[in-house]
Amino acid sequence: MQKYSSMPTYDFDRYIDRHGTSAAKWIKYSNDILPFWVADMDFAVPDFVLNAIRDRVDHGILGYSRTPPALDEAFLGWLRREYGWQVPEQWLAWIPGVVPGLNLAALACATPGGAILMNTPVYYPFLSVPETARQTAIHAPLVLDGGRWAIDFERMASLVTPETNLLLACNPQNPTGRAYTTSELEQLATFVLEHDLVICSDEIHSSIVIEEHCSHTPIVALVPELEPRSVSLYAASKSYNVPGLSCAVAVIPNAGLRRRFQQARAGLVGGISPLAYAAAQAAFADEGPYLSELCTYLRANHDALKTVVGNRMTNVEATYLAWIDVRDLGLENPEAYFTGHGLGLSIGEQFAGPGFIRFNFACPRITLDTGLERLERALRGA
Ligand SMILES: Cc1ncc(COP(=O)(O)O)c(C=O)c1O
Repeated sequence: MQKYSSMPTYDFDRYIDRHGTSAAKWIKYSNDILPFWVADMDFAVPDFVLNAIRDRVDHGILGYSRTPPALDEAFLGWLRREYGWQVPEQWLAWIPGVVPGLNLAALACATPGGAILMNTPVYYPFLSVPETARQTAIHAPLVLDGGRWAIDFERMASLVTPETNLLLACNPQNPTGRAYTTSELEQLATFVLEHDLVICSDEIHSSIVIEEHCSHTPIVALVPELEPRSVSLYAASKSYNVPGLSCAVAVIPNAGLRRRFQQARAGLVGGISPLAYAAAQAAFADEGPYLSELCTYLRANHDALKTVVGNRMTNVEATYLAWIDVRDLGLENPEAYFTGHGLGLSIGEQFAGPGFIRFNFACPRITLDTGLERLERALRGA
């Protein structure tokens, strides 16, 4: 007999017209182009998050806010529940976004003549972090290994310099969709320790696991020796679809590093809105079926995309972003080519991965199916 709990609660098939809402994703292109670029989802925010925002609005005053203690509790409870990671509240620094967190970590670690190491391709705001902190950028390319993107540790060891102070890591990895295994993370941790680096680990996509045999592991929870030299970044914004509310949190165990991180933000990085706090609190406290239903829906979208794209893409283990190889098309202007086919995509150059496109498949099936018909024609060169 089918259990009641197996009936889906959330309707991800529901199409919501985002035109007229200034949605960055939809405003960029004319109406005849379907957008599959920036990483937000065309799904409704779950009701329990919307209700938390409504309740806060109903209070009637939206003044400057401090972090609600109940949000700290909800986030720390989430780290414990999901990853078995026990973290004291003093380690937390709430910030209005993960990208500011990457830049603040770099400013906190910067040294004269210093360098920052990162694997590429990577979510494009990583690429400008070294410039923000007046550090040299070192790009260590990921390599295809047995049908999945992997860190090339030998290459990374050949590129790192004595001046390198920071490794910017992205796990799950945007744009390749890797959820690194514990053995890869242990190797990465060993690398960080051997080269006396700080690691800043962007784990914003941690809750969006697509491949059923994969899971997310916070690197610092796995290797506690990293604690004094780490910044781990989280947000509920991707998984609960509230990135426009701008709220994230840094876990920084080392008091000195935390102080430098907070000093770097002074006067530059503002506070967090009370509505964003309310949404994050509801999201991190969530123990219902929303996330597993979301990932199930995304898994089906992923499989439909894979059917069209085939071996041009590796399986997406986590995130709702696929990294698709279009090098054989020899496109001089990929943006114009794909918009000419009615598709607004992210172009690989932006991520230091020329010859690839990134496709965001977090949308109702009706939108995806139209996009896939267009993509199929584009990949055929028709
Ligand atoms: C890996 C990664 N980090 C950070 C962000 C953006 O974070 P925020 O909007 O909190 O600055 C994104 C958004 O796509 C992302 O994919």
